Amino acid sequence: MKIIAGNWKMNGTRDSLDAMMCGLEKIETNNRVILCVPFTMLNGGNDVVAIGAQDVSAHTHGAFTGEVSAKMIADAGAKYVIVGHSECRQYHGDTNATVRQKAEMALANGLVPIICVGETMDEKQAGKTMAVIESGVRESVPSDTDSNIIIAYEPRWAIGAGLTPTASEIAEAHTLIAKTLSDMGLGGTPVLYGASVKGNNAADIMSIPNVDGVLVGGASLKSDDFIPIITSVN
Ligand code: 13P
Repeated sequence: MKIIAGNWKMNGTRDSLDAMMCGLEKIETNNRVILCVPFTMLNGGNDVVAIGAQDVSAHTHGAFTGEVSAKMIADAGAKYVIVGHSECRQYHGDTNATVRQKAEMALANGLVPIICVGETMDEKQAGKTMAVIESGVRESVPSDTDSNIIIAYEPRWAIGAGLTPTASEIAEAHTLIAKTLSDMGLGGTPVLYGASVKGNNAADIMSIPNVDGVLVGGASLKSDDFIPIITSVN
């Protein structure tokens, strides 16, 4: 069983989610399928597909105009929430410390946080990939939990770029993440790979040791692109 999660980013409407759900209802899979959609579509889940949000406030409630709390996301019917996505780190200034607070809010409200870590191109070129990944996990993941969490390794330079690291680079990153989680008492936590996953590379990526699934951006928007990824590992 693999976890196949889509991240729609700021794309789609309720009509496109309905169309995706119609397509997904026809497939047979043992994989866990999650779609992380904009806040306006959070009530769309069913037995085949669980719905997630893409970000959450680090605060419980109150005077934070424009923010959406974990309680609200759970109340709308979602089960998951992405925290620390590269774009939230880049455009909203999320740090490992804020990502950890957001993950704690998610857990306190019964949501499964999908916690993203990964290096930028500058960090990669400076030889800091492994250090950034390890500190990302140690500082972003609530350690005092035995709860349900998912980690996503997303090399930030590869997102939306049609580029992927080599299989051995992915293996090295995922092995480090698995070891770090085990050191933190969180062994067995699923670790997804994300960045430029498509129908033609998904099965190979998910055959790499310690890759428990994928987090898919652009190729999750249309059922013709997303379904082949889900069924590539039946
Ligand atoms: P792409 O699959 O479009 O590269 O996006 C990856 C991503 O950011 C998923 O969260």
